Amino acid sequence: MKFKQMIFCAIDFSNLNESKRFISKIADHIGGIKVGLEFFLKNGPHGVLELKKIGLPIFLDLKLKDIPNTVKKATENIVQLSPEYLSVHVTGGSIMLKELNLVKKTTKILGVTMLTSLDNKDLRNFGLNISNNEYVKNLAKIGVAAGIDGLVSSAHEVPELKKIINKKGFLYVTPGIRFSDNKINDQKRIISPGLAVKFGSSMLIIGRSITQSKDPIETLKRISENIEAQIES
Ligand code: C5P
Repeated sequence: MKFKQMIFCAIDFSNLNESKRFISKIADHIGGIKVGLEFFLKNGPHGVLELKKIGLPIFLDLKLKDIPNTVKKATENIVQLSPEYLSVHVTGGSIMLKELNLVKKTTKILGVTMLTSLDNKDLRNFGLNISNNEYVKNLAKIGVAAGIDGLVSSAHEVPELKKIINKKGFLYVTPGIRFSDNKINDQKRIISPGLAVKFGSSMLIIGRSITQSKDPIETLKRISENIEAQIES
């Protein structure tokens, strides 16, 4: 399938065997596996090492955020897992982001800007009277200055981010991917796979649309076709 390298499936399962079974079904049609808190808190580092055996790139989505020393020590324990990607919240601040040197030797650091489950109303409730675009751009500048390898945001913000980030190979990682007939669930800043790629996304994080589909392979084909159609239009 064309574009499969860009598609990272969010394996939001608790059960290790169920996760392995599901991945083995779709492994030939995706570019990587995204492992988040649900899986990690149940299966821990052992579970990640088990998934690594499948041979696909791993994005360990732990969204770390704490004081710099705590994050530094935590990431020292991640080195043994050497995931291809690791997420941290940019709102942890630039000192925290700079404390990741050891893990950076093996792993690309992705900075979470604003969760795709939030919108402008949430920002106002936080006391921030700015748009999500401005907020994400502010965080992007902090992340880039601290040397991270990519940003996690909605694809809606990617065109604006590309105007201010001029780094070759920089990664634009976008969750909140939905077709118009998909359930939105808890996401707010959603977008179709094709538009996300058209807007410049380099990695699409897609969970429930695939994992809860009656026919996950068919869904992956539809995702690929949707990207192709948008790119050609
Ligand atoms: O099921 P769905 O496609 O909404 O899953 C999106 C995945 O991306 C979830 O695993 C979620 O933790 C993750 N994610 C997100 N928003 C971010 C960062 C990660 O939804 N900003």
